[in-house]
Amino acid sequence: MDFPASSPQVQVVDTCRRRSEPGRVAVEGERPPERRGSGRSPAGTASTGCDQAVENTVPGQGYIPAMEQLLPTSGPVGSVLDLLDGDPRPSPVGRPWVAANMVASVDGAYGRDGRSAGLSSEADREVFRALRACADVVLVAAGTARTERYRRPADAGPTNARLAVVSGSLHLPADQPFLSGSGPDPIVYHPSTADAGRLPAGVEPRAMGGTTVDIPAVLADLYADGARLVLCEGGPILLGQLAEHDLLDELFVTMSPLLVGGEQVGLLGGHGPMHRGLSLHRVLRDGDSLFLTYRSDS
Ligand SMILES: NC(=O)c1ccc[n+]([C@@H]2O[C@H](COP(=O)([O-])OP(=O)(O)OC[C@H]3O[C@@H](n4cnc5c(N)ncnc54)[C@H](OP(=O)(O)O)[C@@H]3O)[C@@H](O)[C@H]2O)c1
Repeated sequence: MDFPASSPQVQVVDTCRRRSEPGRVAVEGERPPERRGSGRSPAGTASTGCDQAVENTVPGQGYIPAMEQLLPTSGPVGSVLDLLDGDPRPSPVGRPWVAANMVASVDGAYGRDGRSAGLSSEADREVFRALRACADVVLVAAGTARTERYRRPADAGPTNARLAVVSGSLHLPADQPFLSGSGPDPIVYHPSTADAGRLPAGVEPRAMGGTTVDIPAVLADLYADGARLVLCEGGPILLGQLAEHDLLDELFVTMSPLLVGGEQVGLLGGHGPMHRGLSLHRVLRDGDSLFLTYRSDS
């Protein structure tokens, strides 16, 4: 459905253009965006509140989120991409800025029926896409890549980011979607003890570490490649290691208005005790969902 350029609907559609996607990761294909700063103009005149789902429902297109910012200032969000891309992310010495993006239920679950899609929402996918559009590399652990049927980022949404996968076993079945598609072959980081000869075509293996992958060395390697923003999309075991090494500069958490129980609880995947201070950097809201950005205190 086409709206006149001046209509409120077109402003909302410009902010959050996609609907009815199958999962958090499996976003539909679009053209790659301009690298940084989309130039999309602020929109977001839609009202907010508990009745927002009704107000933002466009006939034939379903629910379209209209985000509002609660902190550090309050007001409607025009372009999520422009907002998130506008934040400074200075590279620490010798490594890229590391952001991570996770979705969780209010009771702290990172999975529902074994996947993250059951926790996600249209607004969550909007943030997911925006972060990918900012990133140079999407870093993911093999467990998540297998479970979520990862595709190359350029095949899944508007981004030029390269995929990097961390695996110890190198168990990457030949039907993995990311083994083919647009853009450069994904990097697969593996320990030097693993047999890279068993890898299927369509990836670039890189040995990094002895019996397990050395995560700080991975980041230094990506930095040497020119990456300045690495976006970790999990899973929790990888996130736990980033936190353990104090390598998490920014954490985006979508808080979904759900209680789901189950065993997939804790964004650090059951990692042992640690103490890392975080500062609240930004809060967005769409209906009953919150989008929290924390930054490292160190
Ligand atoms: N809520 C969210 O936002 C979110 C995000 C991502 C994932 N998830 C969910 O998390 C679940 C998957 O989690 P998971 O327990 O499988 O954890 P994971 O962190 O996704 O993957 C763990 C695997 O990554 C590899 N790995 C990680 N660090 C390594 C290291 N230093 N050296 C060598 N290999 C390393 C190993 O792969 P190998 O087995 O190949 O050795 C390990 O088995 C799924 O249910 C997924 O839906 C949720």
